[in-house]
Amino acid sequence: MNNKIKKYTIVTYGCQMNEHDSEKIAYILENLGYVSTNEINDTDFIIYNTCLVRENAELKVYGQLGSLKPLKKENPDMIIAVCGCMMQTGEAREVIQKKYRHVDIIFGTKNISSLPTLINRHLSTGNTVIDIEERDLIDNQIDMKRLHPFIGYINIMTGCNNFCTYCIVPYARGREDSRTPESILAEIKDLANKGYKEITLLGQNVNSYGKTLEKPVPFPDLLRMINAVDGIERIRFLTSHPKDLSDDLINAMAECDKVCNNLHLPFQAGSNSILKSMNRKYTQEDYLLLVEKLKEKIPNITLSTDIIVGFPGETEEDFEETLKVVKKVKYDQGFTFLYSKREGTKAAVMENQVDKNVAQVRFEKLLETMYEIFYENNSKYIGKVEKVLVEGPSKNNEEYLTGRTEGFKLVHFKGNKNLIGTIVNVKITNHNSFSLNGEMV
Ligand code: SAH
Ligand code: SF4
Ligand code: F3S
Repeated sequence: MNNKIKKYTIVTYGCQMNEHDSEKIAYILENLGYVSTNEINDTDFIIYNTCLVRENAELKVYGQLGSLKPLKKENPDMIIAVCGCMMQTGEAREVIQKKYRHVDIIFGTKNISSLPTLINRHLSTGNTVIDIEERDLIDNQIDMKRLHPFIGYINIMTGCNNFCTYCIVPYARGREDSRTPESILAEIKDLANKGYKEITLLGQNVNSYGKTLEKPVPFPDLLRMINAVDGIERIRFLTSHPKDLSDDLINAMAECDKVCNNLHLPFQAGSNSILKSMNRKYTQEDYLLLVEKLKEKIPNITLSTDIIVGFPGETEEDFEETLKVVKKVKYDQGFTFLYSKREGTKAAVMENQVDKNVAQVRFEKLLETMYEIFYENNSKYIGKVEKVLVEGPSKNNEEYLTGRTEGFKLVHFKGNKNLIGTIVNVKITNHNSFSLNGEMV
């Protein structure tokens, strides 16, 4: 190899947890002397951080790997690595080893810190190296190159013990494991000192945070401790499971001024028989009661959710129950998914898999219903003044800035770039289903 500066490219799929892991990978690579590039055709190290929650995500990775074959032939020194959730399954590793033999490095979600060793091993042997042995413990923090200068992700727990019958995540990310409050608070204080304004606490199921600690700490108590850190202005967290959302968490959200009045609370399906078959451990009534309590204690709360359409056995009546919940809760944002069969999960072997076309029709009906509600909700902001954390210039118009309200609403408004990273007051003048427009006041 010559002495020219080496470049790296990270392609990330999946959730915020993966995005955060990519921040750690970026740090490791920059420490090894690599500089970042998005030019796949002119990179020395390309890594795919993969997701396997739905089939689409997997197919994209295989597609991309396939298209790298000619490039690797042209430039055999280019290193190709694949990591992330897909690599936690033997099946995906096997496919890569058999069909994508130009991949040089394969590692799992708990081997990120081994990356330098893996690169060296590959360079000295020329072989494909694989490491999936669990090494990274949650309290051994790996430094990271944060994507954002004033909004930061903080890992508070990993894994999931819930085994919803459709979901592969517990197989990919293992069992629940929580980080100590001391370690979490130290990282947040460090971010506050660096001028960070907003943090998002990450975990597959943050509501069960702390249960595995030597001295268990409930999640609401962790929130209270974080709320006391000077400098941080906004605290968000993802993802909450309705079955573990305690009254004390609602109290903590209401009482902690920095905890945003915004909650992502996936309900997945409205029908009680489908919820049971999904192993979600709550009923539609339980869920709606939770929402009622949240709205009562936190009057201006905004809610978002995840919904699956076409789970095995879903009838038209079951789907109507999903629409019913959507209309009752009046979500501000929602992520809707067509059910995707994942080998190894209980739902994959259930009878009554729903016809794809039937599911698609329901899916479109659901979107239509949701978009109408988003529109109606957003119209209520007209004339109001909202505090907006300015994230950057607007994508479509250089003169405009984009930011988020405490309720996670996207706002576009005219303003100077030197406001990026600050919180400003914006009077809302216009809206559509997905964003608000306004003027600074
Ligand atoms: N731990 C989080 C997020 C899990 S994955 C939670 O429990 O809420 C994010 C979303 O993907 C889930 O909420 C679910 O709506 C969706 N999802 C998971 N498995 C799926 C599957 N097999 N098919 C379609 N959507 C799925
Ligand atoms: Fe998957 Fe359910 Fe765990 Fe969420 S709670 S990660 S949907 S098994
Ligand atoms: Fe995907 Fe893994 Fe996240 S499967 S959704 S990247 S935890």
